[in-house]
Amino acid sequence: MATVFVTRALPGDALVRLRAAHDVTVWDGALPPAPAALREALADAEGLLCLLTDRIDAGLLDAAPRLRAIANYAVGTDNIDLAETVARGIPVGVTPDVLTEATADLAFALLLAAARRLPEAAAAAREGAWRTWEPAGWLGTDVDGAALGIVGFGRIGRAVARRAQGFRMVVRSTADSTLEELLELSDFVSLHCPLTAGTRHLIDAAALARMRPNAILVNTARGGVVDQDALIAALAGGAIAGAAIDVTDPEPPPPGDPIFQTPNLIVVPHIGSATRSARARMTELAVENLLAGLDGRPMPHPAGG
Ligand code: GLV
Ligand code: GLV
Repeated sequence: MATVFVTRALPGDALVRLRAAHDVTVWDGALPPAPAALREALADAEGLLCLLTDRIDAGLLDAAPRLRAIANYAVGTDNIDLAETVARGIPVGVTPDVLTEATADLAFALLLAAARRLPEAAAAAREGAWRTWEPAGWLGTDVDGAALGIVGFGRIGRAVARRAQGFRMVVRSTADSTLEELLELSDFVSLHCPLTAGTRHLIDAAALARMRPNAILVNTARGGVVDQDALIAALAGGAIAGAAIDVTDPEPPPPGDPIFQTPNLIVVPHIGSATRSARARMTELAVENLLAGLDGRPMPHPAGG
């Protein structure tokens, strides 16, 4: 029996399996443990099940001398310093595949919502601004046959491409085009790359300037892939027509952040994998990873695997 710390109550029932095998403590706060609380909880923990809101860096690992397995409740690992976990021989597991379709659905929902101005139109209806059928009211843009550029053609990017076929979109991806070509030729650009040193601010002012003035940017990857100040400026100045983002930098944006005042920008609170089944399956995968890691077996879903 190992001592395990779980940084949040999780959907689904897989934690029962973890509790059956190990001595499990679940953080019961509605917000993540502050760094000091996490440090304290890890003083004697051998296993950690953490979220993308927990920063796992060298300082924290130094304070966790007994830690020997980490399961991240996410497919991304940008919250974890993998060089440090590798150097210490601590395996890290992730939750791929089970959130691919849910995240691709959200990317498409955002694309359609931005194209057809759904938040604005729904708010207008609710606020009594629907006086009659408006020939020129709430006009949006066509998705059928439009050009879609997919940045990052992994599992999620490919799942978005499959959806785009049903809309007869012309699909380019960074697997077959340069980023420059893709930005210049797309009516919609959807981001599906991980956040790494190489992709931080991949979509910066210069990239946004390459995009079409009618283009809509969709981000369900990580906020840091986009230079958010440059995005706000591009939307305010009309360099692109709109954006719909599930991720920001930082998360959440501080109250009063200009992101909430920017026209033509839809922001939702990092809900890409937020379906009941995807989140329950993520719990199962995280538990499988942690059980394996604590047993000294290879994790079934290792980071980078
Ligand atoms: C969510 O953003 C994830 O990486 O799973
Ligand atoms: C995520 O699962 C990706 O590879 O895009």
